[in-house]
Amino acid sequence: MNSQQFSSAVLTWFDRHGRHNLPWQQDINPYRVWVSEIMLQQTQVSTVLNYFDRFMTALPTVRDLAEAPEDEVLHLWTGLGYYTRARNLQKAAKIVVEQYGGEFPRSVAELTELPGIGRSTAGAIASISMGLRAPILDGNVKRVLARFIAQQGYPGEPKVANALWNAAELYTPLTRVNHYTQAMMDLGATVCTRSKPTCLICPLQAGCEAHLLGLETRFPEPKPRKTLPQRQAVMPLLTNEAGEILLYRRPSSGLWGGLWSLPELEQVEQIEDLAAQHGLHVLTQRALPGLTHTFSHFQLAIAPWQVRVDTRAAPVVEADWLWYNLATPPRLGLAAPVKKLLHRAADELNAGESP
Ligand code: ADE
Ligand code: SF4
Repeated sequence: MNSQQFSSAVLTWFDRHGRHNLPWQQDINPYRVWVSEIMLQQTQVSTVLNYFDRFMTALPTVRDLAEAPEDEVLHLWTGLGYYTRARNLQKAAKIVVEQYGGEFPRSVAELTELPGIGRSTAGAIASISMGLRAPILDGNVKRVLARFIAQQGYPGEPKVANALWNAAELYTPLTRVNHYTQAMMDLGATVCTRSKPTCLICPLQAGCEAHLLGLETRFPEPKPRKTLPQRQAVMPLLTNEAGEILLYRRPSSGLWGGLWSLPELEQVEQIEDLAAQHGLHVLTQRALPGLTHTFSHFQLAIAPWQVRVDTRAAPVVEADWLWYNLATPPRLGLAAPVKKLLHRAADELNAGESP
């Protein structure tokens, strides 16, 4: 799909399925488009609908906005949130009046100089209200393009952002650029949605790399997670003559609060001591395959050990400790990796292997 085919497909779709009745699509001028784009930066269309016309009625021109008391502007913004947007709006209005005689500058470079206007917002104002061939790359368009070209990497990375801007530039047509900009936003908002894109009705389906791969939702890639700090724990599966495994209930507050878990040790050498504390005598011990559990703030590398013990000298088990029977498991809350280890142990038992 070449860039001409791309924009044609998008525009044809827009004529039939795009949004045409939004208030900022009527009586189009740079002031109205600018105010709507700023409102829409961090706020949903459905919310902005309650604010836009009221704002325009109160402050119909950029001059009115420049001259209004700040309190009046903030009052009109009340409920939209992110009030820096409102303050920047008035700052920019004053610049447009003082430096440009009340007419918005007609280039992306100059628009970007105004407070609160980034490259994509400048592109939207320039294309929608002035018909200039300027690309946009807001959240919706970023998603559509990242999928269409199956762009790898996190768009917060300059290299990735660059590749996406290049695609945005490439596909932006020379004619009907106002409709094209609105169409791309609408496509991202209604068809190429974040978690459930409806590729079947998408005008770009035939050329979409992500769709071809069947990996639509893999793009754009999320912010890479910082590598988490690592901790280690030895988890002995102290196993009695009946094949039962010793568990304890964790304190109700903290990690795995109130769940049943295996004992945790720092060193394999501590297994004997642990057993002795419960009046148990270690018969044999061997390492089992390890596993990693990821918490929000660290990763726990678990080294499980199969430890057969002799219980003949053991007193009755204390409160918050129990022998867990794999064949008739009691209904308890288990920590996730412990559940996995117990399942593995149960599988081995069923396979008839000796512990
Ligand atoms: N989000 C940002 N700009 C928009 C627009 N012009 N229409 C709908 N949603 C938008
Ligand atoms: Fe998005 Fe699917 Fe269309 Fe590709 S084909 S742009 S993934 S909706």
